Amino acid sequence: KNIAVFASGSGSNFQAIVDVVQAGELDANLSLLVCDRPGAICLERAEMAGIPSFVFKAKDYSSKEDYENEILAELKKHQVEFIVLAGYMRLIGSTLLREFEGRIVNIHPSLLPDFPGKDAIGQALVARAKWSGVTIHFVDEGMDTGPIIVQERVRLDKNETRKSLQEKIHKIEHKLYPSILQMLLTQGGVTNDKKTRAY
Ligand code: GRF
Repeated sequence: KNIAVFASGSGSNFQAIVDVVQAGELDANLSLLVCDRPGAICLERAEMAGIPSFVFKAKDYSSKEDYENEILAELKKHQVEFIVLAGYMRLIGSTLLREFEGRIVNIHPSLLPDFPGKDAIGQALVARAKWSGVTIHFVDEGMDTGPIIVQERVRLDKNETRKSLQEKIHKIEHKLYPSILQMLLTQGGVTNDKKTRAY
C-alpha cells in the first residue's frame, strides 16, 4: 500500500516509519510527506531518505478546502491509499475526510480522552497526572476524538520534566506506531497483546 505521512515539525515519528520501511519491516511504500511548515526538520529527513514531499503554507490559501484540495491532488498523483498523521498540527477537514475516512490515523501523546489538543505533555505535567501515555486512533472531524485503536501507558515520576516525559513517550511511539501500521495495512485490523489495549 502507498502511504503518506503528514507532519509539521521534527518528524521523529516520520523517521521511525522511514526506518522500518527501509528495513523491510513495514509492508508499505512511503510515497509522500505532506508538511505545512517550510523549513521543518521532517522535510530534511524526507530529502535524506529520497521521499517526495509536498509543502504548503495555510496562509497562502483562502480556506482549508483550498489547501486540502491541493493536498488531495498530490495524494492522487502518488496513488496514496492511507494517511498517517505524525505531529501534524492541523485539523483534517471534510475535503480529505470525505475521501479517506477510516484510512487516516493519528498518534497523540496522552491517554485520550485525557489531554487532547496542543501540548498534551505540558497538560499532563500541569495536572500532576500519575499516568499519561500514547494513543493511536482513527481520525474524524474532531480534535483527537476518533475511534481509539490502541493505547500504551507511561508512569510519571515525581520529578518528571517535560524533557524526560517527552523522551519516554517518543520511545514508545517509535515502536508502537510502526507495529500498529503493519497490522492495519496487512491485516486491516489490530490485535490485543499484553501491553496494549485494542478497542
Ligand atoms: C508526537 O509526540 C506525537 O504524538 C504528536 O506530536 C509529536 C510529534 O513528534 N502528535 P515528532 O515530530 O514525530 O518528533
